[in-house]
This record gives sequence, structure tokens and C-alpha cells, in this order.
Amino acid sequence: MFAESTLLIGLLVCGLGLLLATRVRSPARRWSVLALLGVIGSATAWVVALYERPLRDTGLDVVVQGKSPADPLQLLKERPLEVLSDGYVASHTCRECHPSEHASWSASYHRSMTQVATPSAVIGDFQDRHVSYGGASYFLHRRGDQFWVEMDDPDGPEGATQRIERPIVMTTGSHHMQVYWYSSYSRVMGQLPIFYLRQEQMWVPRDAAFLRPVDDQHVSETGRWNVKCMFCHTTHPMPRFVNGATMDTRVAEFGIACEACHGPGAAHVRLRRANGGSVANDPIVNPAELPAALASQVCGQCHSVNFPLDRSGLRDEMNDGPRFRPGQPLAKNRVVVQRDGAGEAHLKKLFAGLPAYEDLSSHFDTQFWEDGMIRVSGREYNGLLKSRCHVEGGMSCLSCHALHRSDSDTRSVDEWRDDQLKPGMRADQGCLECHERQRYATTTHTFHDLQSAGSRCNNCHMPHTTYALLKAIRSHQISSPNVSRDDAVGRPNACNLCHLDKPVSWTADHLQRRYGQTPPQLDEYQQQIAAGVDWALRGDAGQRALVAWHMGWTPAVAASGSEWLPLYLSALLEDSYNAVRLLAYRSLSRQAGFRDLPFQYIREAEDRSPQIARQRWQQTMAKQRSGTAILIEEGGVVRESVFQQLLKQRDQRPVQLAE
Ligand code: HEC
Ligand code: HEC
Ligand code: HEC
Ligand code: HEC
Ligand code: HEC
Ligand code: HEC
Ligand code: HEC
Ligand code: HEC
Repeated sequence: MFAESTLLIGLLVCGLGLLLATRVRSPARRWSVLALLGVIGSATAWVVALYERPLRDTGLDVVVQGKSPADPLQLLKERPLEVLSDGYVASHTCRECHPSEHASWSASYHRSMTQVATPSAVIGDFQDRHVSYGGASYFLHRRGDQFWVEMDDPDGPEGATQRIERPIVMTTGSHHMQVYWYSSYSRVMGQLPIFYLRQEQMWVPRDAAFLRPVDDQHVSETGRWNVKCMFCHTTHPMPRFVNGATMDTRVAEFGIACEACHGPGAAHVRLRRANGGSVANDPIVNPAELPAALASQVCGQCHSVNFPLDRSGLRDEMNDGPRFRPGQPLAKNRVVVQRDGAGEAHLKKLFAGLPAYEDLSSHFDTQFWEDGMIRVSGREYNGLLKSRCHVEGGMSCLSCHALHRSDSDTRSVDEWRDDQLKPGMRADQGCLECHERQRYATTTHTFHDLQSAGSRCNNCHMPHTTYALLKAIRSHQISSPNVSRDDAVGRPNACNLCHLDKPVSWTADHLQRRYGQTPPQLDEYQQQIAAGVDWALRGDAGQRALVAWHMGWTPAVAASGSEWLPLYLSALLEDSYNAVRLLAYRSLSRQAGFRDLPFQYIREAEDRSPQIARQRWQQTMAKQRSGTAILIEEGGVVRESVFQQLLKQRDQRPVQLAE
């Protein structure tokens, strides 16, 4: 297949050739001119095709071929640049007139999403640290204020180990984890293959930081920052995939700054400097004054699964970056893709002819539940679009979130910046702005004590069934507990995510009695075994991750009792998925008696922590709680045969989530 431009150049050269040829008198010279033009034409087409190959062959994953300069010091200059253009003026310009908004934004994780690797930005341990995983070793060190790594070249030939030394020039993230980028050539970023987890203060291999099966497949991440990550992590990103071969990547500002949400500010600043107070036609956008749909799209430009309208849009973005501006409809330049007919048709069209994207169902599986609900975080706008509260009620991201902390807010900065919620939004306040208190904030509707966590609207209607960043996160698709619907797609239901010690059938029963829902067909285990036990032993990796997290969630521990949980958490410490093991470790180490448990991120043969955890449970709390549903008999004896039977039936289908 020819790219359009190749064809165009071919036609142009042919036309020119014919035109010239008709003007040359001698037939011999006519032929040689034609032949020469033919050669030039095909050579041009070939060169263009070569330059375009990366985009054409791999769609979104641009592969840039290049060679690093021999002198690593030279590389310090080879990082993307902050350059102001297209009416962007950057946050420092806004500060003089909006000091309060500037201060709250500075404290936000949006601000620190992308940073130049300076000592104040880098949280990872670079104090002459040697880190090794699976045969690869890294030497992390500092030279004054610079951060350096010595490692095997991640892009070196397979098998051959070629040590390289690279300066770390940029960072991504600051809340849960931090990812590091080294420069390679023409502003193309390479990714340090180990991440730093903030909570554990631990280096972990990239592959193991995601929920995915363990395999040795090596995928190069070089260049991904320039064409993918920065689209949601910077302000006014421009890959500048020059000639389709090298990069001259620029952004208006690293991090997610004022103008990502308010639009380019030059005209506003000019007007305000000239006129101060009242100004007509000020183009600056205040999302709070936009209709709910447009306001949510300001967030949705990054917080959703979205793609360009077509291939030419894709190609344009590789140079100028996304064309979306706050206040405009997102649909003008991008399509939010859901798991449905329209989403599938769009991806088919966009990826036509690209083998890597042929299997769309596996593409959807990595981000959506089978019934179309989004299952990875960072894509909340997908969930909002499917909520009646948004569609029929005009609920927007700003109904619950506050992007600036007001000066009258009594919460600490740390409390606000974690999730950036308005006051009261962890409880029922947001919901009761639209739904009648007398009808819903009642024991008739919730049938839990009104003070109980079991009465909080979002615990039933926004359960933590979404996953990313090594944790469970609230679903942003407002739904109601319904065993039939959830069980059909293997999604744990809201009730059992608190009532881990009760079978799924117990929930189905209550939902029938109290809300008139028809109970589904459930198998023998779902009727007799606690849902927490069933998901931990028989569940797939997605269910195991969610249940491991909930075994450490305070409301669930309060509802289900803590005494039996270490038995199952110790089993999950042996999980074949590293992410599940970490979640189990975190939940376990929240319990007294397990806080000092040793933990290795990548399990080694001699790792005895699962056995140690189980022994501690047996010695200290096994006798405190028994029950058939949790497989513990009086006196703390485990019903091993059923335990093993369930394990044997574990759903081993590979689960891979693309956050
Ligand atoms: C020279 C002073 C000045 C500068 C610089 C400035 N602003 Fe403003 N801005 C104002 C004034 C004055 C108002 C109107 C009064 C108010 O709401 O505080 C305003 C209002 C706003 C509003 C609210 C608009 C509305 O309709 O409610 C936003 C949002 C805003 N500015 C964002 C920015 C951003 C982003 C920048 C930097 C790109 C910036 N401002 C730079 C003076 C300035
Ligand atoms: C479609 C937009 C989008 C793209 C593309 C994207 N991200 Fe993100 N990323 C997000 C959002 C939104 C969050 C916040 C999720 C949350 O808090 O639940 C996030 C969070 C993160 C975090 C956690 C930050 C922290 O402070 O803990 C890391 C690390 C990260 N992304 C890395 C990457 C990398 C690496 C790439 C490129 C391979 C990438 N992202 C591409 C939108 C995106
Ligand atoms: C991630 C998106 C985002 C970023 C980044 C952001 N804002 Fe805002 N800003 C908002 C939203 C949303 C509102 C509406 C009120 C709210 O949520 O706090 C707002 C409100 C405002 C207002 C109006 C306040 C009022 O009282 O009406 C000003 C002024 C403002 N922002 C300035 C800034 C400046 C200056 C920066 C950068 C230093 C900035 N914003 C960064 C999203 C953002
Ligand atoms: C330019 C892309 C972009 C825009 C626009 C944007 N976000 Fe984000 N948002 C991100 C990324 C990336 C992160 C991850 C930052 C981190 O946690 O380090 C994030 C994190 C968050 C977080 C989690 C903060 C935390 O770590 O606890 C919330 C909440 C959030 N965004 C809400 C919003 C809302 C609401 C809007 C719209 C007003 C918005 N965002 C606009 C990209 C964006
Ligand atoms: C009905 C209220 C509500 C609405 C509407 C809402 N959120 Fe949230 N959001 C929450 C709550 C509550 C949390 C805290 C979840 C938790 O504690 O696990 C949250 C958490 C988040 C997080 C942080 C996830 C993490 O890493 O822990 C992000 C990002 C986010 N919301 C983005 C958005 C975006 C973008 C929109 C609009 C598309 C939106 N939210 C709409 C209530 C809401
Ligand atoms: C801006 C107004 C608004 C807000 C805020 C809001 N809702 Fe709604 N919600 C609606 C409207 C309108 C409907 C559709 C009509 C109805 O059922 O009342 C709805 C529907 C629902 C439904 C039925 C969903 C379905 O698929 O049938 C549930 C459940 C629900 N809301 C719960 C909540 C919860 C829980 C919250 C807080 C986290 C919330 N709503 C916040 C307006 C809102
Ligand atoms: C213990 C779980 C639970 C809690 C807590 C809860 N709900 Fe519900 N809610 C349900 C269930 C289950 C349904 C679905 C009933 C059905 O099948 O129609 C429902 C349905 C709804 C609906 C859909 C319309 C209707 O009347 O059926 C709305 C709206 C709603 N709830 C709002 C709320 C609000 C607001 C709160 C907090 C004050 C809340 N709920 C707390 C379990 C709960
Ligand atoms: C956020 C956690 C949470 C959620 C979600 C939750 N519950 Fe509860 N539930 C509790 C707690 C805690 C108690 C203990 C008594 C109390 O606080 O009301 C309880 C008590 C109960 C009881 C009575 C005591 C018992 O054990 O027999 C029933 C029945 C019940 N819940 C059923 C449900 C059903 C059905 C759902 C889903 C519609 C649900 N719960 C959702 C936390 C939760």
C-alpha cells in the first residue's frame, strides 16, 4: 500500500516528466530525460515512504531510528524543550494576578506530573544505588545536581549486553510512583526500565508495576513519551515528528498547567493588563461556567480513552499535537472510544491495515469490562458519559472535584490534593444535591445504620472496581449493586467488596428481598463459599487484585472482620502476578503482627514470606474466627481439601490491564 503523499509525489513527478519530455526535440534525449525523472521520482517516493514507514507501519507507536552522540554529556541538551507559541504564556505569567490559584495549583499533582529531573523533583534513590532484576543491573548515581544511570542498553541487540551511561533528564509522576526518562538523540526520550514506588521507597521493574502476566517479552519504550505520554502529561504538547523521522519535541509547559484547563492565556493577559476589571469578550475559559458536557470535556481530553478523528488527524498530531482547546467540544478533534459498536467501528477505520491493531477485542479487554464499563483509572470521563446522572442530570467532574483549594477550605493541602475533591464529597453531599435526601439517605433505602459505611451512597454506587497505579479506585460510572449484571462479566459486586465473608448468593438474596431484583443462577461455591475466599482462590488476576486491595480497606475489614484475612492474604503473597502480590502485602502489613513482614517485589525461590505470614496467622488469630464459608473450622483448622480444590479451579486466563 502507498501512502497518499507517496502517490502524490509520484503523480507530480510523472506530470512534470511528461511536460518536460514533450518539449525535448531529440527522441534519444527525450528518453533519457524520462528515465532520469523516473529514477528521481522513485527515489523520492522511496525516501518519503521510508520516512513515513514508522507511522504507516505501526500506527501509534512511532519507531524512530537514530544514533546517540558518543559523548554522554552532549545528551544533557537532548531533551524536549519548553517553548511558548500559539498564544500560550505559561503559569508564571498568571501568578502575578492569581496568586491563590497559582499556589493551590503548585501543590497539585497535576503540576508535578512532568518535571525536569532536578534534586527537588526526583524522589527516587540515586545515592550510588545498585539495583538488579532478572539479570539486568542498574547503577544509579548523582554528579552534583545531575542524575545518571549506567545500564544495559534497552535498545541494544537482543542477547548482547552493551553498557551505556545516560543522564536522567525528566520525571513523570509524583504521587504514587515516579518514572524516569533519559535522553537518547534528537529529543527522543528513553524510559528507565525501573520505576520508583513512593510508598515502599522501592525500585521495581516496569513490567512488574502493571497488572499483567509475567513474561520476558521486551518492548522498547523509546520514543513513547514524545508521541503518547506527553499528550496527557504536559501543556500544549507538540511532538514535531519532523519529516517523520526525527523529533524536535516542544511543549508550552511541562506538567499540567493553567492553560491546559483554561485555554491559551495571551489574549486574556493582554486585555487584563490594558483594562483590569470589566472586560467584554475575554477568551479565558472558566470551566465552572461552561455547560456540564463542555466542562467535563476539559478533563476528558486527558481522562478518557480517546483517539483522533482519522488518519490525517493522527498524522497532524504527530507534528502539532492535539488541537483541542478548553471550551470547545472534544468531538471536533477526537472521538471518545467506548466498548461498543461505534467504538469498534472507529478503531477499525483508524487502524485499518495495521496488523498490531487487528485484534480489537484484546484491545478492549485491557481497558473495559465486557459490558462496556471502563475498568482502568485515569479514564473517568468514559464512565461519566455512561452515567444517567451526567446524561440526564448534568452532573460533571466539577460537581465533585475542586481543582483549586479555596482559601476558606479547612482541610490541609495534603488532604485536598489527594483526589482534589470538594469538601464533603467523600460522603453523600454531592449525590444529595440532586437526589432527595428523604428518599435515599434513609435506612429504608440503604438498610444500614445511617452512620455506617454501608450507608454511604458512593460505597454502593461508585464501588472500587476500577484498577490502576497498584490500587483499586472508585468506578466513575454510577451504577447500582446488581449481582446478575456484575457476575456475568466477572466484576466483584459492591456489597461483597465489603461483605467479603459472605457468599455472593447471600447478597443476591438481600437484593431480591430489599430491592426486588431477580437473583441469577449461581454455582455451588458461590452459594456456600465467602465471596472474598472465592475471588482470592478461584478468581482471575483482575478479581484477585481487587479482593487483595479490599482486604486492607477499612470499611471492608470492619464489615467482614480481620481475623481470617491473613490466611488468604498469605496465599495471595504467592500469586503469579507481581501486582497482586504487592496489593496483598500492603493489606497484610496494615494488620498488627504483620507490619514487619519481609517482602520482595519479584519473588525469588527462597522467599519464605507467604509461609511466615501463614504461620503467624495460625499462631495468633486462627482460633478467633471460624465458619464454613471461610473454610476455617473451630480451633483454627483450615479445610485444606476445599482450599486446594478452589485453587485448582483458578481462572488462569491471562489478564492484562492497560492503564
Ligand atoms: C494582569 C492580570 C492578569 C493576568 C496576568 C492573568 N489574569 Fe486572569 N483574570 C484577571 C482579572 C482582572 C480577572 C477578572 C476578575 C477575577 O475573576 O478575578 C481574571 C479572571 C480569570 C479567570 C476567570 C474568568 C471567568 O470568566 O470567571 C480565569 C480562569 C483566569 N483569569 C485565568 C488566568 C490564567 C490561566 C492566566 C495565565 C495564563 C491569567 N488568568 C492571567 C487578571 C489577570
Ligand atoms: C490518555 C491520557 C494519558 C496518556 C496517553 C498517558 N497517561 Fe499517564 N495518567 C493519565 C491520567 C489521567 C493519570 C491519573 C490516573 C489516576 O490518578 O487515577 C495518569 C497517571 C500516570 C502515572 C501515575 C502518576 C503518579 O503521580 O503516581 C504514571 C506514572 C503515568 N501516568 C505514566 C504514563 C506513561 C509512562 C505514559 C506513556 C506510556 C502515560 N502515562 C500515558 C493519563 C494518561
Ligand atoms: C487541571 C485543571 C486546572 C488547572 C491546571 C488550573 N485550573 Fe484554574 N480552574 C480549574 C477549574 C475546574 C476551575 C473552576 C473552579 C474549581 O474547580 O476550583 C478553575 C478556576 C480558576 C479561576 C477562577 C476562580 C474563581 O474564583 O472563579 C482562576 C482565576 C483560575 N482557575 C486560575 C488558574 C491559574 C492561574 C492556574 C495555573 C497557575 C490554574 N487555574 C490551573 C481548572 C484548572
Ligand atoms: C492535560 C491533561 C489533564 C487535564 C486537562 C486534566 N487532568 Fe487530571 N490528571 C492528569 C494526569 C496525567 C494526572 C496524574 C497526576 C498525578 O497523580 O501525579 C491527573 C490526576 C488527576 C487527579 C488525581 C490527583 C491525585 O493524584 O490524587 C484528579 C482528581 C484529576 N486529575 C481530576 C481532573 C479534573 C476534574 C480535570 C478537569 C477539570 C482534570 N483532571 C484535567 C491529566 C489531566
Ligand atoms: C459523583 C462525584 C464524582 C464525580 C462526578 C467525579 N468524581 Fe472523580 N472522584 C470522586 C471521588 C469520591 C473520588 C475518590 C475516590 C477514592 O477515594 O477512591 C474520585 C477520584 C478521582 C480520581 C483519582 C483516582 C485515584 O487515582 O485515586 C480521578 C483521576 C478522578 N476522580 C477524575 C474525575 C474526572 C476526570 C471526572 C469527570 C469525568 C470525575 N472524576 C468525576 C468523585 C467524583
Ligand atoms: C447533577 C445531578 C446529579 C448528581 C450530582 C447525581 N445524580 Fe444520580 N441521577 C441524576 C439523574 C437526573 C438521574 C436519572 C433519573 C433518576 O433516576 O433520578 C440519576 C440517576 C441515578 C441512578 C440510577 C442509575 C441507573 O443507571 O438507573 C443512581 C443509582 C444514581 N443516580 C445515584 C447517584 C449517586 C450515588 C450520586 C452521588 C455519587 C449521584 N447519583 C449524583 C442526577 C444526579
Ligand atoms: C447498601 C447499598 C446502597 C446504598 C448505601 C445506597 N444505595 Fe441507592 N440503590 C441501591 C440499590 C441496590 C439500588 C438498585 C435498586 C434497583 O435494583 O432498582 C439503588 C438505587 C438507587 C437509585 C436509582 C433509582 C431508584 O430509586 O431505584 C438512586 C437514584 C439511588 N439509589 C441513590 C442513592 C443515594 C443518593 C444514596 C446515598 C444517600 C444511595 N443511593 C445509597 C443500594 C444502595
Ligand atoms: C462500605 C461497606 C459496606 C457495603 C458496600 C455494604 N455493607 Fe452491609 N454492612 C456493612 C457494615 C459495616 C455492617 C455492620 C452493621 C452496620 O454498620 O450497619 C453491614 C451490615 C449488613 C447487614 C446486616 C448484618 C448482617 O451481617 O447480616 C446486611 C444484611 C448487609 N449489610 C447487606 C448488605 C448488602 C446486600 C449490601 C449491598 C447492597 C451491603 N450490605 C453493602 C458494610 C457494608
